[in-house]
Amino acid sequence: MSEIIYRNKYRYINKDMKHKKNRKTTVVSILGTNLDRRGKNAKRWDKWRPNIALCQQEDMIVDTLVLLHEKGFKRLAEQVKQDIETVSPETHVQFHQVDFSDPWDFELVYSQLFDFSQSYQFKPDEEEYLIHITTGTHVAQICLYLLTETHYLPGKLFQTSPGNKESPTVGKYQIIDLDLSRYDQIASRFNQERVTGVDYLKSGIETRNSKFNKMIEQLEKVSLLSKEPMLITGATGAGKTQLVKRIFELKQQRGQISGKFVVVNCATLLGDKAMSTLFGHSKGAFTGAVEARNGLLKEADGGLLFLDEIAELGLDEQAMLLRAIEEKNYLPLGADKEIKSDFQLIAGTNNNMNKNVAEGKFREDLLARINLWSYQLPSLKERIEDLEPNLDFELKKFAQKAGHLVSFNKGARASYMKFATSPAALWKANFRDLNSSVTRMATLSEGGRISEDIVEDEITRLKEYWCDDLPRANDPCNVAVKLLGEEKASQLDLFDQYLLMGVSQVCKSSKSMADAGRKLFGVSRLNKKSTNDSHRLKQVLGKFDLTFDELC
Ligand SMILES: Nc1ncnc2c1ncn2[C@@H]1O[C@H](COP(=O)(O)OP(=O)(O)O)[C@@H](O)[C@H]1O
Ligand SMILES: [Mg+2]
Repeated sequence: MSEIIYRNKYRYINKDMKHKKNRKTTVVSILGTNLDRRGKNAKRWDKWRPNIALCQQEDMIVDTLVLLHEKGFKRLAEQVKQDIETVSPETHVQFHQVDFSDPWDFELVYSQLFDFSQSYQFKPDEEEYLIHITTGTHVAQICLYLLTETHYLPGKLFQTSPGNKESPTVGKYQIIDLDLSRYDQIASRFNQERVTGVDYLKSGIETRNSKFNKMIEQLEKVSLLSKEPMLITGATGAGKTQLVKRIFELKQQRGQISGKFVVVNCATLLGDKAMSTLFGHSKGAFTGAVEARNGLLKEADGGLLFLDEIAELGLDEQAMLLRAIEEKNYLPLGADKEIKSDFQLIAGTNNNMNKNVAEGKFREDLLARINLWSYQLPSLKERIEDLEPNLDFELKKFAQKAGHLVSFNKGARASYMKFATSPAALWKANFRDLNSSVTRMATLSEGGRISEDIVEDEITRLKEYWCDDLPRANDPCNVAVKLLGEEKASQLDLFDQYLLMGVSQVCKSSKSMADAGRKLFGVSRLNKKSTNDSHRLKQVLGKFDLTFDELC
């Protein structure tokens, strides 16, 4: 029943192919050492043979078939060529020898196909190329895909498949154009989902501060490679809690952690309860211990324990914690058997831990154990160039919650940025202040537009809020604002702000300008023949447009 199906001689071309009519079609294909080999007798025509079938398609003429084959398969290649001549005499079969001695060796197959792409004389103006990916190993398919995607092979991917019962041998084909938008969409979705660990730790905020960025890059590596404890320090609102949460999520995404994320603020663990909350207790361990209870350390088994404000932990708890992280077991309160818990510890603090150690408030051995990896998060003012991307991030976050877009009017944005990046903006609670500020403005915005009025009110509110608390006589920026006004103060370098603060403090505590001059120039005046300290002080103050009297 072997019936040879000839390709329709009338060459009718379907609509999709019409515009390419003037270009010839060249298919690049690997000889199918299994699928194309169906013996020599007539029965071979009953079977689907991809390289024959692709020349039998009714609506497509293959002008040239470049058949890549190995040396040892020359005979089979010749047979395929002959059979193609039978069904599609217009097709010219060209052989190209390759060395696929190990067809699963990625490097070998890739280099062979790459060499082919370099040596073949492609003429894209005259010919359309289809890269057949149905034959060859998966390794070869991946290599053909890569070479096509990168345009080393200037064509489209081309697949064939066996047909149904009516036409089993000819089958179907499909062209995959990697340049078409459908593929673009897949590629961009893929890119979106393939956010890097670093981006993830930064919540996708495109931070500009190079020191911060470098730190996060290292932190990502350490997070993914190490299970050792970490210490994250930084002022309130610098982003410690957010960062640790992200570290946990990143580890979880990469399958590095299976347990829970347990957060404990050590400042809330008061008195006797601290021990049992952390380490658990047995039934009847103390009055009121009606039930045995697993502590938070046990809850974090296999997961991550974040001990925020670790400096607040009592000395007894510190000793117990050290044992728990070193030996991975500890004794719950009132229990006679130790229990096991294997967790990663991250500690957070805004204290100077060395000082705490020096004052005997914190165990030196515990600090040495937890600060193997230690990261200091800079304050918002220390990375003021990151304010803008964080501002946009906060706006987006608000918009997501509110369900509508929120943005600044152009002028409003400029005024807000000018104030926000000036020395007058103290950002005492760092990103937490920024978050509250954006929340206020966005809530008050009408139709999602933050106007100049809203910004002005917000600036006033922030100034009052930052002014209210704690005397700030030792804040150079505050001193400069008080003496010179905001506009002028904002033009000063921090160096000059400190200079001004120091000089004004000496002036205030001096009887006269000469007295202040003597104190300020006490060393250099001894080395000079004629001294005029008052004059020198006057010159310094002149730099700031100030007089001695104005300071006292
Ligand atoms: N990486 C971040 N992703 C999202 N929000 C952040 C990030 N860092 C800081 N923030 C913002 O700053 C606020 C304070 O951060 P948080 O982690 O609570 O600070 P800390 O723990 O250092 O006091 C958060 O509520 C959030 O609005
Ligand atoms: Mg916190």
